[in-house]
Amino acid sequence: MDEMLQQNPPLIGIDIGGTGIKGGIVDPKSGILLSETIRVPTPQPATPEAVTAAVAVVVAELSTSPQAPEARSPVGVTFPGIIQHGVVHSAANVDKSWLHTDIDSLLTAQLSRPVKVINDADAAGLAEARYGAGKGVTGSVLVITLGTGIGSAFIFDGKLVPNAELGHLEIDGFDAETQSSAVARERNGLSWAEYSVLLQRYFSHVEFLFSPELFIVGGGISMRADEYLPRLKLRTPIVPAVLRNEAGIVGATIDIGLKLNFAVLRAS
Ligand code: BGC
Repeated sequence: MDEMLQQNPPLIGIDIGGTGIKGGIVDPKSGILLSETIRVPTPQPATPEAVTAAVAVVVAELSTSPQAPEARSPVGVTFPGIIQHGVVHSAANVDKSWLHTDIDSLLTAQLSRPVKVINDADAAGLAEARYGAGKGVTGSVLVITLGTGIGSAFIFDGKLVPNAELGHLEIDGFDAETQSSAVARERNGLSWAEYSVLLQRYFSHVEFLFSPELFIVGGGISMRADEYLPRLKLRTPIVPAVLRNEAGIVGATIDIGLKLNFAVLRAS
């Protein structure tokens, strides 16, 4: 049987962030990383040419791993902006020249293998829903990632409703992520207590709008959740992401893995 049609083969996942581009080889059955994580800094300016070249470096490095999948196997990629039908429709924290770029086609050509791109927070949400803190939770789950910006994934009964952009809610006259992202906390030199006040305002507003069953907090500072989650007063349970900073890499491979397994079922 063609190795491409092997059910549940390992897959390469790449997470493009505002500050770093990370990749790993993921076991789709468990969501566990089979390789070490390879990271390169996001080039500045983060233009399509520079970023795709950096993604190619990470994929080439991963391809030397003993766990690497077949050379032409598909790659799942995340991007920190709206992705609809493989095209970029927002670029808040990357170079504006990404707008209207067909990123699926660009990366497919650059890597000479099929590539499917989804929003970074959506990928984290898929990973948490399948393998992490949202596993088995019915109803609405909101995964909020606090990083360079604020990302969000809206999961309902384990399924993703893509491209929820709740980091850009206007709160007190500001685009929320400009005040309440992890990078905004550092930029403004806020203590955890001061930052928690902003998070309280943010999560109360989102809770009022959506009444989810669960909030999951992802992004780099999910590792420091003890500093701020206990200070928040919400009626919704709020927990850190289980997959921590790897959720994007793992989630990048979920959509593409489903398509592969569908192809196996059709071929058998
Ligand atoms: C973007 C989102 C992204 C989030 C986290 C926001 O600025 O609009 O699409 O998910 O940052 O990277």
